[in-house]
Amino acid sequence: MKLQRQLFTEIAIRNRVAELARCLSSEYTKTGVTEVVALVVLKGAFVFAADLIRQMFVSVRVEFVQVRSYEDATSPQHAPSVQYLFNSSIFSGKHLLIIEDIVDSGNTLVALLDSLPIEPPFFPLSLKVCALLEKEVFREGILDGFHWLMENHYHVGFRIPNEFVVGYGLDHAGLYRDLADIRVLEGEENAS
Ligand code: IMP
Ligand code: MG
Repeated sequence: MKLQRQLFTEIAIRNRVAELARCLSSEYTKTGVTEVVALVVLKGAFVFAADLIRQMFVSVRVEFVQVRSYEDATSPQHAPSVQYLFNSSIFSGKHLLIIEDIVDSGNTLVALLDSLPIEPPFFPLSLKVCALLEKEVFREGILDGFHWLMENHYHVGFRIPNEFVVGYGLDHAGLYRDLADIRVLEGEENAS
C-alpha cells in the first residue's frame, strides 16, 4: 500500500468545512435552534468534527460513538459494531448532529441510525448527518428507511471516486490520520 495522488489540499478542505459549518448553522438558526449535540463517529471523524464545530455559530455539546467494521483492512471485515461512549439518553430533547468522516456503502451510517435511542422517551428533537466524504458507490437506497433524513438533513463535503483515501482523520491500519490533506492509498490489498 502506498500513498498516491492528493485528492484535496488542506486549503480546499478548510474552505469546504467552513461552508458546511455556515450552512448547518444557518439551517439551525433559521428554525430557532441555538444548541446542538454533535455525535462524533470515532475514530475517523475527530479531525473533521474539531474543525467543523469550531466554525459553527450555534452552541455545540460533543459526544462520541465508535463504529467498527474495517479493522485494519480497506474493506469491511464484519458487520458494523456500535459502541456509545456515554449514556445515550442524552439526546432526549436535543438537536442531534451526527458527524462522520466518510460514507462508503452506507452500512456504518445505517447501523448507527438503527442503534440510536430514538424511541420515546429517548428521542432527539431533530437529526442531521454531516459527512465530510461520500463515495460514488454509495446509493441513497440504503437509507430507504430514513427518507426524512435525506430531505435537507444529510450534508456531504465532497463526493469522491471509489478509492481508499486517508488523511485528515481517515486512516489505514491506524496510520495517516495526521496528514493535513486527503490522499488516495493504492496497493494490492485495496479491495474497496
Ligand atoms: P461504510 O460502512 O461502507 O459506509 O464505510 C464507512 C466507514 O468505513 C467509515 O466510517 C470509515 O471508518 C471506513 N472507510 C470507508 N471508506 C474509507 C476510506 O476510503 N478510507 C478510510 N476509511 C474508510
Ligand atoms: Mg468511521
